[in-house]
Amino acid sequence: MKIGSTKLPGNLFLAPMADVTNLAFRLLCKEHGADFTYTEMISADALVNENRKSVLKSLSAPEEGAFGIQLVGSKPETLSAAALFVEEEYKPAVIDVNLGCPARQIRDTGCGSALLEKPDKIYAILKELSENLGERTPISAKIRLLESEKKTLEIARLIEKAGASALTVHGRTAKEMYSGKSKLLPIKAIKEELSIPIIANGDIRDEKSAAEALEFTGCDGLMIGRAARGNPFIFRRIRNFLETGEYLISEKDSESKAGFKSEERQKPWEMREKKRGEKREENPLAEKLQIRQFQDFETYVKLLEKYELLNSTNLRIHAHWFTKGLRGSRQLRERINNLNDSKAIIELMKAVSEDQCKK
Ligand SMILES: Cc1cc2nc3c(=O)[nH]c(=O)nc-3n(C[C@H](O)[C@H](O)[C@H](O)COP(=O)(O)O)c2cc1C
Repeated sequence: MKIGSTKLPGNLFLAPMADVTNLAFRLLCKEHGADFTYTEMISADALVNENRKSVLKSLSAPEEGAFGIQLVGSKPETLSAAALFVEEEYKPAVIDVNLGCPARQIRDTGCGSALLEKPDKIYAILKELSENLGERTPISAKIRLLESEKKTLEIARLIEKAGASALTVHGRTAKEMYSGKSKLLPIKAIKEELSIPIIANGDIRDEKSAAEALEFTGCDGLMIGRAARGNPFIFRRIRNFLETGEYLISEKDSESKAGFKSEERQKPWEMREKKRGEKREENPLAEKLQIRQFQDFETYVKLLEKYELLNSTNLRIHAHWFTKGLRGSRQLRERINNLNDSKAIIELMKAVSEDQCKK
Protein backbone atom coordinates (compact mmCIF):
# COMPACT_ATOMS: atom_id res chain seq x y z
CA MET A 1 0.00 0.00 0.00
CA LYS A 2 1.08 3.59 -0.66
CA ILE A 3 0.40 6.86 1.15
CA GLY A 4 1.11 9.51 -1.43
CA SER A 5 4.54 8.64 -2.77
CA THR A 6 5.46 6.68 0.37
CA LYS A 7 5.42 2.95 -0.22
CA LEU A 8 4.67 0.92 2.90
CA PRO A 9 5.76 -2.69 3.36
CA GLY A 10 2.21 -3.76 4.18
CA ASN A 11 -1.10 -2.55 5.53
CA LEU A 12 -1.06 -3.20 9.28
CA PHE A 13 -0.79 0.01 11.26
CA LEU A 14 -0.14 0.58 14.94
CA ALA A 15 -2.57 3.28 16.13
CA PRO A 16 -1.22 6.46 17.67
CA MET A 17 -1.83 6.20 21.42
CA ALA A 18 -0.86 8.80 24.00
CA ASP A 19 1.52 7.37 26.64
CA VAL A 20 1.73 4.09 24.73
CA THR A 21 3.30 4.48 21.31
CA ASN A 22 6.67 5.84 22.35
CA LEU A 23 9.72 4.92 20.29
CA ALA A 24 10.41 1.76 22.33
CA PHE A 25 6.89 0.41 21.92
CA ARG A 26 6.79 1.26 18.23
CA LEU A 27 10.06 -0.59 17.64
CA LEU A 28 8.71 -3.60 19.50
CA CYS A 29 5.56 -3.61 17.37
CA LYS A 30 7.61 -3.29 14.19
CA GLU A 31 9.70 -6.23 15.30
CA HIS A 32 6.45 -8.17 15.54
CA GLY A 33 5.30 -7.15 12.10
CA ALA A 34 3.55 -3.78 12.32
CA ASP A 35 4.05 -2.24 8.89
CA PHE A 36 3.69 1.35 9.92
CA THR A 37 3.57 3.18 13.22
CA TYR A 38 2.62 6.66 14.33
CA THR A 39 3.85 8.62 17.30
CA GLU A 40 1.27 9.57 19.86
CA MET A 41 -0.32 12.95 19.13
CA ILE A 42 2.07 15.86 19.57
CA SER A 43 0.76 19.33 20.22
CA ALA A 44 1.54 21.69 17.36
CA ASP A 45 1.45 24.58 19.83
CA ALA A 46 4.11 22.90 21.98
CA LEU A 47 6.26 22.31 18.91
CA VAL A 48 6.36 25.93 17.92
CA ASN A 49 7.36 27.21 21.33
CA GLU A 50 10.23 26.58 23.67
CA ASN A 51 8.59 23.53 25.30
CA ARG A 52 9.44 21.44 22.35
CA LYS A 53 12.52 19.86 23.86
CA SER A 54 10.51 17.78 26.32
CA VAL A 55 7.86 16.64 23.82
CA LEU A 56 10.51 15.62 21.34
CA LYS A 57 12.72 13.60 23.68
CA SER A 58 13.73 10.42 21.83
CA LEU A 59 10.95 10.95 19.34
CA SER A 60 12.54 8.62 16.82
CA ALA A 61 15.85 7.00 15.92
CA PRO A 62 17.39 6.11 12.55
CA GLU A 63 16.80 2.39 13.12
CA GLU A 64 13.05 2.98 13.25
CA GLY A 65 12.83 3.37 9.48
CA ALA A 66 9.65 4.84 8.05
CA PHE A 67 7.27 6.18 10.68
CA GLY A 68 4.53 8.77 10.98
CA ILE A 69 4.22 11.75 13.29
CA GLN A 70 0.77 12.71 14.46
CA LEU A 71 0.07 16.35 15.21
CA VAL A 72 -2.82 17.82 17.12
CA GLY A 73 -3.77 21.46 16.80
CA SER A 74 -6.44 23.79 15.49
CA LYS A 75 -4.72 26.60 13.63
CA PRO A 76 -3.56 25.96 10.07
CA GLU A 77 -0.52 28.20 10.38
CA THR A 78 0.63 26.64 13.69
CA LEU A 79 0.13 23.11 12.40
CA SER A 80 2.01 24.01 9.27
CA ALA A 81 4.94 25.53 11.19
CA ALA A 82 5.03 22.50 13.50
CA ALA A 83 4.90 20.12 10.54
CA LEU A 84 7.74 21.91 8.76
CA PHE A 85 9.79 21.73 11.94
CA VAL A 86 9.31 17.98 12.51
CA GLU A 87 9.74 17.29 8.82
CA GLU A 88 13.12 18.96 8.87
CA GLU A 89 14.22 17.39 12.17
CA TYR A 90 12.90 13.83 11.90
CA LYS A 91 12.06 13.17 8.25
CA PRO A 92 8.83 11.29 8.98
CA ALA A 93 7.38 9.32 6.08
CA VAL A 94 3.90 10.70 6.79
CA ILE A 95 2.47 13.48 8.94
CA ASP A 96 -0.97 12.78 10.35
CA VAL A 97 -3.49 15.23 11.75
CA ASN A 98 -5.59 14.20 14.72
CA LEU A 99 -9.22 15.01 13.96
CA GLY A 100 -10.76 12.46 16.27
CA CYS A 101 -9.54 12.75 19.86
CA PRO A 102 -12.62 12.90 22.12
CA ALA A 103 -10.77 13.86 25.33
CA ARG A 104 -12.21 16.95 26.97
CA GLN A 105 -8.92 18.78 27.41
CA ILE A 106 -8.24 18.39 23.67
CA ARG A 107 -11.75 19.32 22.54
CA ASP A 108 -11.81 22.35 24.84
CA THR A 109 -8.92 23.83 22.88
CA GLY A 110 -10.80 23.32 19.60
CA CYS A 111 -8.60 20.37 18.58
CA GLY A 112 -9.15 16.66 17.86
CA SER A 113 -12.78 15.70 17.37
CA ALA A 114 -13.94 19.30 18.01
CA LEU A 115 -12.70 20.04 14.50
CA LEU A 116 -15.18 17.59 13.02
CA GLU A 117 -17.83 20.22 13.74
CA LYS A 118 -15.86 22.77 11.69
CA PRO A 119 -15.41 21.39 8.18
CA ASP A 120 -14.04 24.69 6.86
CA LYS A 121 -11.26 24.59 9.40
CA ILE A 122 -10.41 20.99 8.54
CA TYR A 123 -10.21 21.99 4.91
CA ALA A 124 -7.99 24.98 5.68
CA ILE A 125 -5.64 22.89 7.86
CA LEU A 126 -5.20 20.06 5.40
CA LYS A 127 -4.91 22.36 2.41
CA GLU A 128 -2.20 24.40 4.10
CA LEU A 129 -0.29 21.27 5.15
CA SER A 130 -0.65 19.57 1.78
CA GLU A 131 0.47 22.66 -0.09
CA ASN A 132 3.45 23.29 2.17
CA LEU A 133 4.64 19.72 2.62
CA GLY A 134 2.54 17.33 0.56
CA GLU A 135 4.96 16.90 -2.30
CA ARG A 136 7.76 15.81 0.02
CA THR A 137 5.87 14.38 2.98
CA PRO A 138 2.35 13.04 2.48
CA ILE A 139 -0.34 14.23 4.89
CA SER A 140 -2.90 11.87 6.39
CA ALA A 141 -5.82 12.45 8.75
CA LYS A 142 -7.55 10.39 11.41
CA ILE A 143 -11.24 10.91 12.19
CA ARG A 144 -14.12 9.48 14.16
CA LEU A 145 -17.68 9.24 12.86
CA LEU A 146 -20.23 12.03 13.08
CA GLU A 147 -23.80 11.34 14.20
CA SER A 148 -25.00 11.55 10.61
CA GLU A 149 -23.50 9.33 7.96
CA LYS A 150 -24.05 12.07 5.40
CA LYS A 151 -21.92 14.50 7.40
CA THR A 152 -19.21 11.91 7.93
CA LEU A 153 -19.04 11.38 4.19
CA GLU A 154 -18.93 15.13 3.57
CA ILE A 155 -15.98 15.49 5.93
CA ALA A 156 -14.21 12.54 4.33
CA ARG A 157 -14.67 14.04 0.85
CA LEU A 158 -13.41 17.39 2.10
CA ILE A 159 -10.31 15.77 3.56
CA GLU A 160 -9.53 14.20 0.22
CA LYS A 161 -10.26 17.43 -1.65
CA ALA A 162 -7.90 19.35 0.64
CA GLY A 163 -5.05 17.11 -0.48
CA ALA A 164 -4.72 14.42 2.22
CA SER A 165 -3.10 11.24 0.95
CA ALA A 166 -4.79 8.79 3.35
CA LEU A 167 -7.57 8.71 5.92
CA THR A 168 -7.99 6.56 9.02
CA VAL A 169 -11.52 6.13 10.34
CA HIS A 170 -12.36 4.94 13.85
CA GLY A 171 -15.92 3.61 13.65
CA ARG A 172 -17.30 5.45 16.70
CA THR A 173 -18.46 8.99 17.32
CA ALA A 174 -16.56 11.21 19.76
CA LYS A 175 -19.57 11.08 22.08
CA GLU A 176 -19.34 7.31 22.24
CA MET A 177 -15.72 7.53 23.43
CA TYR A 178 -14.96 3.79 23.64
CA SER A 179 -18.43 2.46 24.41
CA GLY A 180 -20.47 0.18 22.19
CA LYS A 181 -19.03 -1.45 19.15
CA SER A 182 -17.01 0.27 16.47
CA LYS A 183 -19.05 0.34 13.24
CA LEU A 184 -17.77 -0.97 9.96
CA LEU A 185 -20.64 0.12 7.70
CA PRO A 186 -19.80 3.87 7.70
CA ILE A 187 -16.14 3.01 7.09
CA LYS A 188 -17.17 0.91 4.10
CA ALA A 189 -19.25 3.84 2.79
CA ILE A 190 -16.21 6.13 3.03
CA LYS A 191 -14.01 3.60 1.28
CA GLU A 192 -16.51 3.33 -1.56
CA GLU A 193 -16.69 7.09 -1.90
CA LEU A 194 -13.03 8.15 -1.78
CA SER A 195 -10.03 7.40 -3.97
CA ILE A 196 -7.28 7.85 -1.35
CA PRO A 197 -6.32 4.85 0.83
CA ILE A 198 -8.65 4.32 3.78
CA ILE A 199 -7.51 2.63 6.98
CA ALA A 200 -10.16 0.98 9.14
CA ASN A 201 -9.81 1.34 12.89
CA GLY A 202 -11.76 0.27 15.96
CA ASP A 203 -12.08 -2.98 17.89
CA ILE A 204 -9.66 -4.98 15.76
CA ARG A 205 -8.39 -7.32 18.41
CA ASP A 206 -7.67 -10.67 16.80
CA GLU A 207 -7.38 -12.60 13.56
CA LYS A 208 -11.12 -12.86 12.99
CA SER A 209 -12.00 -9.21 13.60
CA ALA A 210 -9.10 -8.13 11.37
CA ALA A 211 -10.17 -10.34 8.47
CA GLU A 212 -13.79 -9.25 8.88
CA ALA A 213 -12.92 -5.54 8.91
CA LEU A 214 -10.76 -5.85 5.82
CA GLU A 215 -13.24 -7.93 3.90
CA PHE A 216 -16.37 -6.04 4.87
CA THR A 217 -15.05 -2.50 4.37
CA GLY A 218 -12.72 -3.20 1.44
CA CYS A 219 -10.29 -0.83 3.15
CA ASP A 220 -6.66 -0.57 2.17
CA GLY A 221 -5.28 -1.01 5.68
CA LEU A 222 -6.09 -1.84 9.28
CA MET A 223 -5.08 0.10 12.36
CA ILE A 224 -4.75 -1.65 15.69
CA GLY A 225 -4.72 0.20 18.98
CA ARG A 226 -5.69 -1.21 22.36
CA ALA A 227 -5.22 -4.83 21.36
CA ALA A 228 -1.52 -4.19 20.79
CA ARG A 229 -0.91 -2.89 24.30
CA GLY A 230 1.09 -5.52 26.13
CA ASN A 231 0.59 -7.72 23.10
CA PRO A 232 2.68 -6.56 20.14
CA PHE A 233 2.66 -10.18 18.93
CA ILE A 234 -0.86 -9.47 17.65
CA PHE A 235 0.64 -8.08 14.45
CA ARG A 236 2.34 -11.36 13.64
CA ARG A 237 -0.80 -13.33 14.38
CA ILE A 238 -3.00 -11.12 12.24
CA ARG A 239 -0.55 -10.94 9.36
CA ASN A 240 -0.21 -14.70 9.32
CA PHE A 241 -3.96 -15.19 9.35
CA LEU A 242 -4.56 -12.68 6.57
CA GLU A 243 -1.86 -14.26 4.44
CA THR A 244 -2.51 -17.94 5.07
CA GLY A 245 -5.88 -18.29 6.77
CA GLU A 246 -4.08 -20.15 9.57
CA TYR A 247 -3.91 -19.27 13.23
CA LEU A 248 -0.36 -18.67 14.35
CA ILE A 249 0.28 -19.26 17.98
CA SER A 250 3.95 -18.85 18.04
CA GLU A 251 6.79 -18.02 15.71
CA LYS A 252 7.64 -21.05 13.59
CA ASP A 253 10.96 -21.61 15.35
CA SER A 254 9.67 -21.63 18.87
CA GLU A 255 6.65 -23.58 17.72
CA SER A 256 8.74 -26.42 16.44
CA LYS A 257 10.99 -26.26 19.48
CA ALA A 258 7.97 -26.57 21.70
CA GLY A 259 6.59 -29.31 19.50
CA PHE A 260 3.01 -28.06 19.49
CA LYS A 261 0.45 -30.17 17.72
CA SER A 262 -1.74 -28.35 15.21
CA GLU A 263 -4.94 -29.13 17.11
CA GLU A 264 -3.53 -27.24 20.06
CA ARG A 265 -3.21 -24.06 18.05
CA GLN A 266 -6.50 -22.44 18.89
CA LYS A 267 -6.60 -23.26 22.57
CA PRO A 268 -5.17 -20.16 24.26
CA TRP A 269 -7.54 -17.83 22.42
CA GLU A 270 -10.49 -20.00 23.31
CA MET A 271 -9.27 -19.97 26.88
CA ARG A 272 -9.09 -16.20 26.88
CA GLU A 273 -12.75 -16.02 25.95
CA LYS A 274 -13.69 -17.98 29.06
CA LYS A 275 -15.58 -16.03 31.66
CA ARG A 276 -13.70 -14.44 34.52
CA GLY A 277 -13.32 -16.77 37.46
CA GLU A 278 -13.99 -19.87 35.40
CA LYS A 279 -11.36 -22.47 36.12
CA ARG A 280 -8.69 -22.62 33.45
CA GLU A 281 -7.34 -25.84 32.12
CA GLU A 282 -3.66 -26.58 32.28
CA ASN A 283 -2.25 -25.79 28.90
CA PRO A 284 1.45 -25.97 28.09
CA LEU A 285 1.02 -23.76 25.06
CA ALA A 286 -0.55 -21.04 27.17
CA GLU A 287 2.47 -21.18 29.46
CA LYS A 288 4.73 -20.61 26.45
CA LEU A 289 2.67 -17.60 25.47
CA GLN A 290 2.94 -16.20 28.97
CA ILE A 291 6.70 -16.50 28.69
CA ARG A 292 6.53 -14.63 25.38
CA GLN A 293 4.65 -11.78 27.04
CA PHE A 294 7.38 -11.49 29.66
CA GLN A 295 10.06 -11.66 26.98
CA ASP A 296 8.37 -8.85 25.08
CA PHE A 297 8.20 -6.81 28.27
CA GLU A 298 11.91 -7.40 28.82
CA THR A 299 12.67 -6.19 25.28
CA TYR A 300 10.45 -3.18 25.89
CA VAL A 301 12.44 -2.31 29.02
CA LYS A 302 15.74 -2.65 27.14
CA LEU A 303 14.50 -0.32 24.43
CA LEU A 304 13.26 2.19 27.00
CA GLU A 305 16.69 2.14 28.61
CA LYS A 306 18.48 2.46 25.29
CA TYR A 307 16.49 5.55 24.32
CA GLU A 308 16.44 7.00 27.85
CA LEU A 309 12.68 6.77 28.05
CA LEU A 310 12.41 4.74 31.24
CA ASN A 311 10.12 6.15 33.90
CA SER A 312 8.13 4.34 36.56
CA THR A 313 4.69 5.67 35.55
CA ASN A 314 4.99 4.50 31.98
CA LEU A 315 6.60 1.24 33.04
CA ARG A 316 3.84 0.45 35.54
CA ILE A 317 1.10 0.99 32.94
CA HIS A 318 2.88 -1.17 30.39
CA ALA A 319 3.65 -3.85 33.00
CA HIS A 320 -0.11 -4.03 33.66
CA TRP A 321 -0.81 -4.61 29.99
CA PHE A 322 1.98 -7.12 29.55
CA THR A 323 0.55 -9.20 32.39
CA LYS A 324 -3.02 -9.10 31.12
CA GLY A 325 -4.51 -12.54 30.69
CA LEU A 326 -1.76 -14.22 32.67
CA ARG A 327 -2.57 -16.56 35.49
CA GLY A 328 -2.59 -14.63 38.76
CA SER A 329 -2.32 -11.32 36.92
CA ARG A 330 -4.65 -9.43 39.25
CA GLN A 331 -2.48 -10.12 42.28
CA LEU A 332 0.63 -9.36 40.25
CA ARG A 333 -0.79 -6.00 39.19
CA GLU A 334 -1.55 -5.17 42.81
CA ARG A 335 2.06 -5.88 43.67
CA ILE A 336 3.23 -3.72 40.76
CA ASN A 337 1.02 -0.88 42.01
CA ASN A 338 2.77 -0.92 45.35
CA LEU A 339 6.17 -0.40 43.78
CA ASN A 340 7.25 3.10 43.03
CA ASP A 341 10.45 2.81 41.15
CA SER A 342 11.27 1.30 37.78
CA LYS A 343 14.01 -0.96 39.12
CA ALA A 344 11.65 -2.69 41.56
CA ILE A 345 9.00 -3.20 38.85
CA ILE A 346 11.60 -4.68 36.48
CA GLU A 347 12.89 -7.01 39.21
CA LEU A 348 9.42 -8.22 40.12
CA MET A 349 8.55 -8.91 36.48
CA LYS A 350 11.85 -10.74 36.06
CA ALA A 351 11.24 -12.92 39.11
CA VAL A 352 7.73 -13.84 37.95
CA SER A 353 9.04 -14.55 34.48
CA GLU A 354 11.77 -16.83 35.83
CA ASP A 355 9.12 -18.64 37.85
CA GLN A 356 7.10 -19.20 34.67
CA CYS A 357 10.15 -20.57 32.87
CA LYS A 358 10.78 -23.11 35.63
CA LYS A 359 7.26 -24.53 35.33
C1 LIG B 1 -4.62 5.25 25.69
C2 LIG B 1 -5.05 5.72 24.34
C3 LIG B 1 -4.43 6.81 23.77
C4 LIG B 1 -4.81 7.26 22.52
N1 LIG B 1 -4.14 8.31 21.96
C5 LIG B 1 -4.44 8.68 20.68
C6 LIG B 1 -3.66 9.67 20.01
O1 LIG B 1 -2.69 10.21 20.55
N2 LIG B 1 -4.02 9.99 18.74
C7 LIG B 1 -5.08 9.39 18.09
O2 LIG B 1 -5.38 9.71 16.94
N3 LIG B 1 -5.81 8.45 18.70
C8 LIG B 1 -5.50 8.06 19.94
N4 LIG B 1 -6.19 7.04 20.54
C9 LIG B 1 -7.22 6.33 19.75
C10 LIG B 1 -6.60 5.13 19.00
O3 LIG B 1 -5.66 5.56 18.07
C11 LIG B 1 -7.70 4.31 18.28
O4 LIG B 1 -8.32 5.14 17.35
C12 LIG B 1 -8.76 3.77 19.24
O5 LIG B 1 -8.17 3.21 20.40
C13 LIG B 1 -9.63 2.70 18.54
O6 LIG B 1 -8.85 1.63 18.10
P1 LIG B 1 -8.75 0.23 18.92
O7 LIG B 1 -10.15 -0.27 19.11
O8 LIG B 1 -7.91 -0.65 18.05
O9 LIG B 1 -8.12 0.55 20.22
C14 LIG B 1 -5.85 6.61 21.81
C15 LIG B 1 -6.47 5.51 22.40
C16 LIG B 1 -6.09 5.05 23.63
C17 LIG B 1 -6.78 3.86 24.22
